[in-house]
Amino acid sequence: MAKNRKVYVCRACGAQFPSWTGRCGGCQEWASIGEVAIREPTVGVDADRTRATQPLVAVDPDLALPFPVGFDEVDRVLGGGLTPGSATLLAGEPGIGKSTLTTQMAMSVAAAGASVILVTGEEAPAQVAARAARLGSIPSALLVVDDTSTAVVAATMAETKPQMIIVDSIQTLRSDWVDSAPGSVNQVKASAAQLIDAAKGHGVSLLMIGHVTKEGSVAGPRVLEHMVDTVLTFDGGRHSELRFLRATKHRFGPTSELGIFDMTSDGLVAVPDPSLRYLADRRESMPGSVVVPFLVGRRPLLAELQTLVQPVQGRAGQSSVQGFDGKRQAMVAAVMGTHAGYRLSSADVFVSVVGGAKLDEPAGDLGLAIALASAVDATPVPADVVVCGEIGLGGEVRSVPLITERLHESYRLGFRTAIVPRSAPDGPTGLRLLRAGTLAEALSLVPPQLRSTG
Ligand code: TYD
Ligand code: MG
Repeated sequence: MAKNRKVYVCRACGAQFPSWTGRCGGCQEWASIGEVAIREPTVGVDADRTRATQPLVAVDPDLALPFPVGFDEVDRVLGGGLTPGSATLLAGEPGIGKSTLTTQMAMSVAAAGASVILVTGEEAPAQVAARAARLGSIPSALLVVDDTSTAVVAATMAETKPQMIIVDSIQTLRSDWVDSAPGSVNQVKASAAQLIDAAKGHGVSLLMIGHVTKEGSVAGPRVLEHMVDTVLTFDGGRHSELRFLRATKHRFGPTSELGIFDMTSDGLVAVPDPSLRYLADRRESMPGSVVVPFLVGRRPLLAELQTLVQPVQGRAGQSSVQGFDGKRQAMVAAVMGTHAGYRLSSADVFVSVVGGAKLDEPAGDLGLAIALASAVDATPVPADVVVCGEIGLGGEVRSVPLITERLHESYRLGFRTAIVPRSAPDGPTGLRLLRAGTLAEALSLVPPQLRSTG
């Protein structure tokens, strides 16, 4: 017979202790330890539970083949689709579009005739139906369960054996394996474990939605990362309709693919060439503007970095930065002052990455420096130039990851000159590389004769 045992668990980080302590030895949080009852597993051999072994050669490997979710952009990120009996976590901030994405996946799998269950802990079935109706015609193989008991969901899975089950969200479920509150670390872990168990047992693909919670809150999806086969993260710019889907962990395929979507009134639509979007309204020959190849995951995209520099008198200059890391901007400005003679401290500096792109990697430093210099000098950088490189505090230009991929993407989009770190390998034929070892050298590569006069 199973019996109950008590352990002491930190509400903040989930660390377990045999006795109560005032401070968690794991995360050093005070007064975060609570008592949790755990059901002890039965000791010894339970005759009902032994399983016959089988020759591995007799196992059908096709049972592990992924099935497409009918959404090319998602299938590409997954390396072909979802694997039967696998567990996937879809993590993202509230409002980013997780329910929309999974509803679209569910509708296309169900439209092909396979049964799909949506577990709607977060919303009422009527709301889910309204969303689905907005996204297309609802296939009859799409089923809904309105229950937050993990045991009920697991039993439903066992009985119905759907191709796929989507739990929206794992934070709303409660498992009777532990007696802590829904949404707490232990509940989320226990519910996930219970569902993963059922999914593996019945060959069902389990897709759990997890909200990425703000700093300090409990039970973010991170606690599930090691339990699942695949972790998908879904994010996007706060001021942009673009959404990025990435597999940050994937037992069955690549983690380098990036799916890009637009959130439209008809749901999520794949965007084949987001760089075109970012560069769409670019006005060429504008001082202060530079195009920078940046990475989202491992995929290179191009975006325009715009700057405006306005001298001020009688007060210190201020900075306003969007889409670029504020601390790096301050560092680049300081290095420009020390090593290239640009005094930006007596000016208001505005930096904006167009289209809501987030250029949050050091590879954007050199582009920012050249854009600022172009703004100060009121001289545009030619329209076919891209810039990439990290700047060190000594004014040196440092190499950046995946430069070859960045250069190919730049060439593909029509750029013909690239200002790059000295160590950069050759790019595609037809792309002229201007190599710079220092910031001063890089700035001298944009002399008036190279600048367009436009
Ligand atoms: P939702 O999928 O509910 O986000 P999450 O589950 O991650 O919290 O969708 C978020 C937003 O998307 C919501 O504000 C409404 C909007 N939306 C569209 O723009 N188009 C659509 O077709 C749908 C269904 C939603
Ligand atoms: Mg939702």
